[in-house]
Formats: sequence, C-alpha cells, structure tokens
Amino acid sequence: MTDRYAVLGHPIGHSKSPLIHSLFARATGQDIAYTAIETPLDGFDDTVRAFRAGGGRGLNVSLPFKLQAFEIATDPSERARLAGAANCLKFEGGDRIHADNFDGVGLVNDLQRNLACPLAGKRVLLLGAGGATRGALLPIAAERPALLAVANRTADKAHALKRDFAAHTALQTGGYGELSGQAFDVVINATSTGLSQDALPLPAGLFAPGALAYEMVYGKGLTPFLKQAQAAGVARVADGVGMLVEQAAEAFHWWRGVRPDTRPVVDQLTVPLV
Ligand code: ATR
Repeated sequence: MTDRYAVLGHPIGHSKSPLIHSLFARATGQDIAYTAIETPLDGFDDTVRAFRAGGGRGLNVSLPFKLQAFEIATDPSERARLAGAANCLKFEGGDRIHADNFDGVGLVNDLQRNLACPLAGKRVLLLGAGGATRGALLPIAAERPALLAVANRTADKAHALKRDFAAHTALQTGGYGELSGQAFDVVINATSTGLSQDALPLPAGLFAPGALAYEMVYGKGLTPFLKQAQAAGVARVADGVGMLVEQAAEAFHWWRGVRPDTRPVVDQLTVPLV
C-alpha cells in the first residue's frame, strides 16, 4: 500500500518538497505519495490530526508552523528541543508524534558535501538570531569550527542564544557593528532579508580571502546579501537549494530507512545565481 506524506505550510504553493520526495522515491523504489497541503494559519493542529487519521505516516513542516510542530510532538529530538522548532514529524504506534529538525544538518551537509567547504577550524558567522539560526547552531558546532559567531540587528536576541546554547557550544554574539575588524571564512545569511530584499549593515573586511557566502533562502537569485558579498570580492556564493534537498534526504531516511542520493536532485533544482 502506498504510504502518504505531505508538507504543511502557509503559503505552500511554491514548495519543491513534493518534487524532491518523488525523485527520491523513484530512485530508491519506495512506494510513497507526497503532497503539499495549504494549511490555514489557525488550523495547524486540525490539519495534522486529519492527515494522520487518514493514514498519513509523516509530515514536513514549513513556515510559519515550525514552532507549533515542536509543541504538538510527544517525542522531540534534542536538536528540535534546542531549536524550539521542528520541521519533520513521524507518526508511530498509538498517539506518539516524533519530531526532529533537519534544517541544520541539511545546511551542514550542503556546505561540506556539495560545496566542499569543511567547517572544522573555520571562522563561521551566522547572520540573524531567529528560528533558522537556532536550528543551525548545534549541527555547525558539532563540526568544530574555530569560531562560531551570531550577529543580529537586535543584539539581545543573539545574546539570548549564547545563554541557551551555553551547555553545548561557545558563541560570540552581538550586533552587526561589533563585527568591525573581524573576518570570517563562512558567512551564512539566516535572516529573512533574502525574502524581503533588505540589505544588511555588514562592515567592510567581513569576508576572509576565499570565503563562502551562503544565503539560506533559495530560488531568489542574487539576494542583497549575495550581491554585497560579491561586491566585497567573494567568489564563492551559494543559495539554500542544497540545504533544502539535504534536509529532505534526512527526513526521507528517517521515515523510510533508506538514504537517497542527493547529488542528482541538487543538480536538477539548482538555478544559476545571476
Ligand atoms: P526565521 O524563523 O526565518 O529565522 P524569525 O525568527 O522571524 O524568522 O527571524 C528573522 C531574523 O531576520 C531575525 O534575526 C531578524 O532580526 P531581528 O531579530 O533584529 O528582528 C532578521 N531580520 C529580518 N529583517 C531584517 C532586516 N531588515 N535587517 C536585519 N535583520 C533582519
């Protein structure tokens, strides 16, 4: 029997997840159906319940429901707990709802495997202190960068992360102005400016020679952040399409016990950044 999965979000029409999971399923011979479900802003719990009652096996959760996905879980992973957010649910026996957050590991796998950018010993900077950064911190820290820094428009939100993650990793935190005089090997934009098209107040000299500039948003071409990086002489720029595919592969593996090959899917979805 075909097992059912879906992604919930609002809006969700643009989602590439159904395509990605159908490519994974075809390549691995898994019999699954995967759809996108437009979820009313006040209807997350009801949508999850109805999907599950209809025999659904698992869900991906997109914006703006990642916090609610964590809250309805009976069995959240440590990563989801620290992020305070989940992007993947699995339904098993009785009423259990397992939750995990694969965004961070998807980012790390994209950086290290697809973009050949190992994080060990590197100076890594995350811009933004919202949910996207929260999800990324633990997987990045696990790779043992020389320095892990978070800069945010609202510096206090970055400082709060330092406290929340103190048991797991040391963090340098502050506002953008405090970055003056520092250079980083990997700079990741985890703010929502990739969508809003606002520019960030990045100081000169932020990018070390050979640095990688990474925009978590995908499919928006050269965002203001990537343009700023290029203007600062950065040759290696990437958007989040590989992160999307890699987090999907983690979900697929978690649900199905089979690890799909991500390379052909990343290649198929990649749009040149111009
Ligand atoms: P997400 O879950 O996508 O991370 P979020 O939790 O709303 O979304 O966080 C959005 C992030 O983008 C925040 O770090 C926010 O900065 P503030 O905490 O100071 O609000 C950042 N952000 C959004 N618009 C921005 C802008 N125009 N300039 C700088 N940072 C911005």
